[in-house]
Amino acid sequence: MSTAVDSALGRVGLGRSPDAPLNGHAAPDHENGNWDEQFLPPPLRIDDYNRAQKIESRLSGLVLSGATLSRVSDVFERELERGLKEESSSLQMENTYVPELPNGTEEGLFLALDLGGTNFRVLLLELRAGQLVREDVKHYHINQALRLGPGEDLFNFLADCVQDFVRSEGMDKESLSLGFTFSFPMRQHSISSGELITWTKSFKCSGMNGVDVAGLLQQCLHARGLDITVRVLLNDTTGTLMAGAQIDPNVGIGVILGTGSNGCYMERASRVQHWEAAHARVHDVCVDVEWGAFGDNGCLDFIRTDIDREVDQHSLLAASFTFEKYIGGKYLGEVLRCSLAALGRVGLFPAVPPPGSLLTEHLSLFEEENCSGGWSRTLFVLQQACGEEARLGPEEALITQHVAQLISNRAAQLASVCIAALIRRMDRPLTGVAVDGSVYKCHPRISTLMNKYIALLAPNHKFTLMGAEDGSGKGSALTAAIAARVAANNPS
Ligand code: GLC
Repeated sequence: MSTAVDSALGRVGLGRSPDAPLNGHAAPDHENGNWDEQFLPPPLRIDDYNRAQKIESRLSGLVLSGATLSRVSDVFERELERGLKEESSSLQMENTYVPELPNGTEEGLFLALDLGGTNFRVLLLELRAGQLVREDVKHYHINQALRLGPGEDLFNFLADCVQDFVRSEGMDKESLSLGFTFSFPMRQHSISSGELITWTKSFKCSGMNGVDVAGLLQQCLHARGLDITVRVLLNDTTGTLMAGAQIDPNVGIGVILGTGSNGCYMERASRVQHWEAAHARVHDVCVDVEWGAFGDNGCLDFIRTDIDREVDQHSLLAASFTFEKYIGGKYLGEVLRCSLAALGRVGLFPAVPPPGSLLTEHLSLFEEENCSGGWSRTLFVLQQACGEEARLGPEEALITQHVAQLISNRAAQLASVCIAALIRRMDRPLTGVAVDGSVYKCHPRISTLMNKYIALLAPNHKFTLMGAEDGSGKGSALTAAIAARVAANNPS
């Protein structure tokens, strides 16, 4: 599942162009070509050369050079420092209060709640010596009225689901600890409390300003007579870091490439400004970067295209989480659709696909077929998206595959910029990066691209990119067990 990349070996043919940065990001010179060119996707190859040229020119904003990515990286590092110091920044850099990684002694029976992506789940997990020995899970659908209605309704629904679940397990009379994976930006006050900062992805509930989400869940559980205590409140990236660290002790970064995108890492506690709890004995702490909001203050406007502006305008939460809209599975299909529509409006494509007609899973399919050298499935899906009357042929399928490749390449590069910056910052002999999420799992070449780009952007550091399953479930139980261990070691 994991691929080790020794970037110092220059496996990807490193070199430095005159434009390449001199700030330590760039790779050493190498006879295998130009550093900057390593980032460029292949050209569009269709019979009509003139049309190909015009399309490339119209979509050139989606192509980022190595020099531009270095600039993004510099801005990321600056925003990261500012966020940690609680200065104005588009990066939240939230203290999660999680001070340790799993050490193989985690024990106990835990409930876990996973809210954030496409599914809401309730899980019962049992850990013995750090290993998962039992996992019961039930999925619940959260309809649009709940996702967009009053927050209180949503939390009552969550508590109803927990009640249904513990009843079905025959455990509704038992005393249980719960880990709440709430995958939205939070202002955390402790390991078990925090307020929502803003909704992201498909949620936009009202009345949640200043509300402690763990406290609200706790109230709703108690109102149902359940003896369940919310022990930890965490983000899915933290859960992924924990799940990854359980498999490989070198893991220090957790990443989600799913409906949304985000990362967390272990930071030195002394570099974190925001503390609302005693931390004299805390050496490291997990920080939730919230890179989905990177650039919301305008600092990344130099990579924004008119296509991105259109995606943003059509989104549920416009002018918010702009970086996530370049990477997240909720948006990549729409970026593809808006790109084809932009070509269609200037006569370079014979149709303007309507909103919602192309999804990220289609983009993955186009990429898959591109990798295998075919076009017929792409054409079939495209025809359905554009309508039977659209006059489409193999050339349109190849153009669509090319656009999907540009968008995938950009998403991989931007995620890699953040990951490479964290790897350089942690500066370890080997850094494990645990990754979870539907885009990472389903896109045919995202992990290959990321291995390549991280190596280019952190050339002097070894890293391992590894898939980590179910951070939001297993990671939540591990975090709850760690919280119990830390509390036992530090009685107040
Ligand atoms: C969004 C949320 C973030 C979460 C990510 C992945 O960016 O704000 O908290 O980690 O989605 O689910």
